[in-house]
Amino acid sequence: MKALLLNGKNEWKTMKVEEIDSPTPKKGEVLVKIHAAGLNPVDYKTATNGNPHWHYPHILGLDAAGTIHAVGEGVTGWKTGDRVVYHGDFNKPGAYAEYGVTTAHTISRIPDTVSFEEAAALPTAGYTAYQALFRKLPMSSIETILIHGGAGGVGGFGIQLAKATGKTVISTASAHNHEYVRSLGADYVIDYSKEDVKARVMEVTNGRGVDAVLDTVSRDSATSSLDMIAYNGHIAHIAGAPDYTHIKPFSKVISYHEVALNAIHHNQDEKAERDLAKIGDELLSLVAEKKISPLVERVIKMEEVPQTLLELSERHVKGKIVAKIQ
Ligand SMILES: NC(=O)c1ccc[n+]([C@@H]2O[C@H](COP(=O)([O-])OP(=O)(O)OC[C@H]3O[C@@H](n4cnc5c(N)ncnc54)[C@H](OP(=O)(O)O)[C@@H]3O)[C@@H](O)[C@H]2O)c1
Repeated sequence: MKALLLNGKNEWKTMKVEEIDSPTPKKGEVLVKIHAAGLNPVDYKTATNGNPHWHYPHILGLDAAGTIHAVGEGVTGWKTGDRVVYHGDFNKPGAYAEYGVTTAHTISRIPDTVSFEEAAALPTAGYTAYQALFRKLPMSSIETILIHGGAGGVGGFGIQLAKATGKTVISTASAHNHEYVRSLGADYVIDYSKEDVKARVMEVTNGRGVDAVLDTVSRDSATSSLDMIAYNGHIAHIAGAPDYTHIKPFSKVISYHEVALNAIHHNQDEKAERDLAKIGDELLSLVAEKKISPLVERVIKMEEVPQTLLELSERHVKGKIVAKIQ
């Protein structure tokens, strides 16, 4: 099969499409003929740092959509030709390849009206936003939420999902993305590079602060967000835990929620693994019903993945970019 091969630690900028043997599904796994693969910051991050579980050449890419080509021993409920999407384990060979293997209990069925490119945009960013909002934050008690990085993948799904449940959504983005972020459902958008974010959040919430923050930016961003949270509020963080040493006990009583989507694959907790498939099903239904956008801004070729990851590493890409594999 053709695959984009990473030949060593931090060599992702020079990856090339080459021939390599196709994988074989083991017990409980499926072999998927991959049609589209979503790009994510985790690709260049893991490739830069390397991973002791990898054997080079390694294949990057976590978000794959395609058709089942073969099922391994013991797999029930799935057959050749089924259209599926999955979030892969970053310890294993990934999605920038014509074929990929994954565990059958973590895959979701793609409705006929949803394209492979749309489905491939969902897993890493969409499942993370979904998990933060509906598995971590107590959404029934939240009225206002600050979602940082509204123009990015996780932020974009987060805004749409929070808005769909009737929350007041405040987001941050560069000025040229404000219209886009509003179109996703944000009620207020703050230009983090020019405005005083805390002052604006306090103004918008009449001095109270927000019930919850979803931080998609950094440890610093998560730390400064603590001062924008109302009493008994929450923060879900995906890009660095906040330093809460300045928050005194018996003061704001903030709850802290870590989201680390890929860790699901590494904990041998089958309940959590099966939940990936449920989250995928739910997001695919929302896309099929046109209740949320899959955020696909651009479809590229597999050969263009390295230069596009370089663009992603500059951290100003809007929405999602997907590679068409075959
Ligand atoms: N823990 C997990 O499970 C998990 C899962 C998924 C992703 N992540 C991590 O979460 C982060 C976000 O991922 P992503 O897929 O959404 O893509 P991303 O590439 O980080 O998002 C790009 C967006 O970030 C915005 N941005 C950059 N700096 C910002 C700042 N200081 N304040 C507000 N917005 C800012 C940019 O908006 P403007 O161009 O408008 O400035 C751009 O649209 C990444 O670091 C990723 O690795 C973690």
